[in-house]
Amino acid sequence: MKHLLCLSEWSGNEIIETIKLAEQLKFENKNGIRHNHLLKGKTLGLIFAKASTRTRVSFEVAMYQLGGYSLFLSSSDIQLGRGETVSDTAKTLSRYIDGIMIRTFKQSDVVELAKQGSIPVINGLTDSQHPCQILADLQTIKEHKGKLESLKLAYVGDGNNVANSLLIGCAKVGMNISVATPQGYECEEYSINVAKEAAALTGATVTITNDPYEAVKDADIVYTDTWVSMGMEAEKEKRAKIFMPYQVNNRLMEAAKADAIFMHCLPAYRGFEVTEDVIDGPQSVVFDEAENRLHAQKAVLVKLLG
Ligand code: CP
Ligand code: NVA
Repeated sequence: MKHLLCLSEWSGNEIIETIKLAEQLKFENKNGIRHNHLLKGKTLGLIFAKASTRTRVSFEVAMYQLGGYSLFLSSSDIQLGRGETVSDTAKTLSRYIDGIMIRTFKQSDVVELAKQGSIPVINGLTDSQHPCQILADLQTIKEHKGKLESLKLAYVGDGNNVANSLLIGCAKVGMNISVATPQGYECEEYSINVAKEAAALTGATVTITNDPYEAVKDADIVYTDTWVSMGMEAEKEKRAKIFMPYQVNNRLMEAAKADAIFMHCLPAYRGFEVTEDVIDGPQSVVFDEAENRLHAQKAVLVKLLG
């Protein structure tokens, strides 16, 4: 484990071990045990080409609590935003810091950064993947359901970065996943194929459908995300019409298991992908997910930089 670019490169075991470490760090932290020796003196650069609340704050706080230091590098302020190559950026930053987290558009830029640099790279979201989110989500599911294997997660909405990474992450840990999107908004082929290959090993099932009610049937977890990911703002109105039948509302939640939990990576848009009564209701665990970004990323940082 040198980088976290896409969960496809991690084994199911590595994912599970990382979640276990996240659980331990969370438990100890809540019981007053300090971890500021774990990454003492280490420095993490945080490159952001897109907005963020959770990713930025949780990585900064994680580094602080682990005894390290983080630098926020907005791509509009560093030379990368003015046309310096990813390769030169990677080689330069490798001379100063111990790791890079990057949130950007193209997955290939993250791969290039890892290839050209000599330090661990963590994908903090691309158009294609959001692996840090899924590690925190799996930790959250385990907390609420006591296990991961053989549960069923239904993702309803846009076949975006979060959906792609969920497919891979769930299949790798043996969770059944069913993804319902409108026609033409399915997950990328690559992630579907990786998930199906992983599922063949773990015994999980991967279902791709256009029917939200089929997806949520017998689901332990109902998950959605925004219909308008960063960079797609121009499609907002068109998407609102196409996606409305995929809204997670009480009627859809009632079609899942009675004890199903509702998940959303946030930021959420109430009245669009989810109704207010669902996201603010008793089945919602969205702020546990947000909190677990901190713990799961600490585990990733300790494994990659420690
Ligand atoms: N879920 C998530 O990545 O949130 P931010 O965009 O606020 O970082
Ligand atoms: N799919 C969303 C996730 C935000 C955390 C986006 O890419 O904007």
